[in-house]
Amino acid sequence: MLRITQEAARCLLCGNAKCTAACPNGYDPSRAVRAVRFENENIAGRFVDADTCAGCQGDCEKACIHYDSPIRLREMISALPAQTKTDEEPDLSIDFCGVHCENPFFLSSSIVAGDYDMCARAFEAGWAGAVFKTIGFLIPEEVSPRFGTIGKEGTPFIGFKNLEQISDHETTYNLDVLRRLKKNYPDKVIVASIMGQNDEEWIKLSKLVTEAGADMIECNFSCPHMSGGGLGSDVGQDPVLVKRYTKLVKSVTHLPVLAKMTPNIGNMEIPATAATQGGADGIAAINTIKCILGIDTETLVSSPSVNGRCSVSGYSGKAVKPIALRFIHDLAKCGHLSGVPLSGMGGIETWHDALEFILLGCSNVQVTTAVMQYGYRIIDDLILGLKTYMAQHGITKVSELVGTALPQLVPADMLDRSTLVYPSFDIKKCIGCERCFISCSDAGHQAITMQDGKARLSAAKCVGCHLCMLVCPSGAISSKNKRIAKP
Ligand SMILES: Cc1cc2nc3c(=O)[nH]c(=O)nc-3n(C[C@H](O)[C@H](O)[C@H](O)COP(=O)(O)O)c2cc1C
Repeated sequence: MLRITQEAARCLLCGNAKCTAACPNGYDPSRAVRAVRFENENIAGRFVDADTCAGCQGDCEKACIHYDSPIRLREMISALPAQTKTDEEPDLSIDFCGVHCENPFFLSSSIVAGDYDMCARAFEAGWAGAVFKTIGFLIPEEVSPRFGTIGKEGTPFIGFKNLEQISDHETTYNLDVLRRLKKNYPDKVIVASIMGQNDEEWIKLSKLVTEAGADMIECNFSCPHMSGGGLGSDVGQDPVLVKRYTKLVKSVTHLPVLAKMTPNIGNMEIPATAATQGGADGIAAINTIKCILGIDTETLVSSPSVNGRCSVSGYSGKAVKPIALRFIHDLAKCGHLSGVPLSGMGGIETWHDALEFILLGCSNVQVTTAVMQYGYRIIDDLILGLKTYMAQHGITKVSELVGTALPQLVPADMLDRSTLVYPSFDIKKCIGCERCFISCSDAGHQAITMQDGKARLSAAKCVGCHLCMLVCPSGAISSKNKRIAKP
């Protein structure tokens, strides 16, 4: 049977998709596939009509420009879950540091929020706010190329490395953009990200962006690859400087101030607490993680090669989400930061990713890398998915969800160590590939044997680690057995 998520993963997600243009019935197959791709499989069916499509000649499929073979759209459409209509319309709006946001989704400070037209298009698409590209008096000279990616087995963009610094526009130009954005989009939230080099610059920048009409200020204490010392994450690793600069910024603005944290540190609670002592109203995390993507073993240069050299610089995207979530958890649980609003980011692509940040305590989330890869249009599925989840769970306001997963995260010494769950094997689904057998033999407790070409479990040896389930490609192994006392 066709696995719709795997087939959707092959889709090239073209702009102006030919499949949709070719549909004689005016449906939107490309939008349906995009919904599947962004974890909205259950509602993908609303963009097509399975009955009508079943009787169609498949013009969408014939128009597909996939370089390999067309996406099997007709089969996908027929396999989409039936649609259940709900009249409930959950409220996605949220109060963040006293500022009303129509939904929790902001562009994070970067190239994706780098100019007027870009932010305007993002707002039109549905983003509630934009943290504008960091403004400073230093105008950096950028390198070319400046990005690199790491992929695995057909997924080209698991992690993303960038060497980009702060805005390379003049401060006066950026201030004019902020002014125009606020004038033309009064209901959207304009956050000015700033970075100074000394006391005077932090004060001046804070005054200027306040006068320009920003709704909030985000202090960039966290860019890990600024050329020149005393900037970005050099500041963010020093709680004394964090407190000092936050205090200076707060002393000349009435706006809420966020302090954006660097993950290039062991305990983020320390600079975050220092920021709140300096008067920060909220904490944003995480900025990018210092990285080296890898080394080209022929040229001996790391990617991206800037004329034969590269530098340690910031890593973002899906790969960093677990690290970002861990920092958000640490901030949310820190007693000194109790009640301090959190804005979370790092690897958010789908509504599900965003919800995870919310469940760990964020009332606002930000995105860059996924927008770089897929464009502003991902907001459609962020909004749709979160709304659907809320309707299904009887949640009327996003604030009801904030932090609700925190009690279940406990120190390792508080975990139950007296019981286990044996993996459950569905022999009908076992295809005899031996992946579970190999992993259990070489990295487990030799609890799996192959009999008549099928995997069998020996409970006497099994410790319930579930590695077998994680490597099984056919879904034959699950954790649906009951938890029992350890033998
Ligand atoms: C190309 C690029 C440029 C960035 N520029 C800035 C910046 O100017 N200021 C800032 O605070 N963070 C900057 N960031 C960090 C992002 O705002 C964000 O914190 C980080 O990428 C993690 O989120 P993501 O995984 O959604 O990208 C940049 C990130 C990227 C990839």
